Amino acid sequence: MTRTRIWHPFTQHGLGEPIPRIVRTEGAYLWTDTGDRLIDAISSWWVTTHGHAHPRIAAAIAEAAASTDQIIFAGHTHPQAEAVADGLAALFPPQLAHVFFSDSGSTAVEVALKMALGFWTARGQPRHRILVLEGSYHGDTIGAMSVGARGVFNAAYAPLLFDVGTLPFPDDDAALVALEAACRERPAALIVEPLVLGAGGMRMYPAERLAAMAAICARHGVLFIADEVMTGWGRTGTLTACEQAGVVPNIMCLSKGLTGGSLPLAVTLASAPVYDAHYSDDRARMFFHSSSYTANPIACAAAAANLAIWQEEPVLDRVAALGERQRGWMDRAAGWPGVTAARTLGTLAAFEVEDTRSGYLSALGPAIKAHCAAAGVLLRPLGNTVYVMPPYCVGEVDLAQVYGAIEDAIRTLRSS
Ligand SMILES: Cc1ncc(COP(=O)(O)O)c(C=O)c1O
Repeated sequence: MTRTRIWHPFTQHGLGEPIPRIVRTEGAYLWTDTGDRLIDAISSWWVTTHGHAHPRIAAAIAEAAASTDQIIFAGHTHPQAEAVADGLAALFPPQLAHVFFSDSGSTAVEVALKMALGFWTARGQPRHRILVLEGSYHGDTIGAMSVGARGVFNAAYAPLLFDVGTLPFPDDDAALVALEAACRERPAALIVEPLVLGAGGMRMYPAERLAAMAAICARHGVLFIADEVMTGWGRTGTLTACEQAGVVPNIMCLSKGLTGGSLPLAVTLASAPVYDAHYSDDRARMFFHSSSYTANPIACAAAAANLAIWQEEPVLDRVAALGERQRGWMDRAAGWPGVTAARTLGTLAAFEVEDTRSGYLSALGPAIKAHCAAAGVLLRPLGNTVYVMPPYCVGEVDLAQVYGAIEDAIRTLRSS
């Protein structure tokens, strides 16, 4: 048995699987201490957008580290946070007028849930029920787990998770019928992963249904929370997935690519009514949430540099070009043995590989991962769901290496 001092996330140390030691990152590549190069086909858990160690972002980080490393954000501000707020205002719908900072996707979701409950309490009409989509993933803190799918990931904590109203996955109109009915019971909010459930297996649903869900919530006065932690920053082909449905949520969660994937930071964007519900001369009505590193200036400097890249460079052209290549690869992958449901959305491509045991604990995923690692590709299938979500700088040759490794893994594993 391999015992390590460092306890890694989502890692079963008892299996003794190798843990590569990464000593350098650049563009679409990671290098190990043994000099091996890996193509980062999953953007290091979906965070790296433009590419690793982007020079503009790295320079901004260095500058901020030397000038303003950390400041309490309660009752204080700094130019880096203001630059982020200005950049967000330039890129995102004006209705999402207020920015609350936190540190990760999970905390962005916790903040969104607390804002929603705070909104209703401040209005003197307390509501506590949250509606969710079947199969969702919103993070690993207790609140974020509560609004996510129940399963092996959170079975040990189940008694602590709060009860939610679960709507069917919106691949048909049953979700809309269920949402109409659930809204009559006056829930506080619906939280969705717009257009695609990420960790829930890259399951995609149409923009019209996202728009219909938002419209039902608006009609019933139920807050609509879009968790764009995975889908934001161009992953689905547009800056946000909501954009494709013409939806402006009441609350939006962003993280991962907010700093281009360089440093941990998140924002929860809130519309004026949500902010105004907490706005008062009564201290008891303030928004009671913080963490020590809220809006860390170094992380904010990275985010501001990322936002400048989005405003000044043709990022969406790069996204479109990658999306086109991904579609070409999914056409080919559809013909590989055992491959079903090959699909794309923007820069994201996914398919299933037939296996006796589907789901997250399918043994196929780790086997494909190991095979690809040996071929210089970092991949991390979700059970028997294989997906490729590379940084936007990935080249055609690199992508061919990624898919070559995957095809070889599938053919080898299925014939063994
Ligand atoms: C949709 C969504 N929400 C929230 C999270 C949690 O983000 P973090 O891991 O930064 O806490 C994730 C992470 O993958 C995610 O995909």
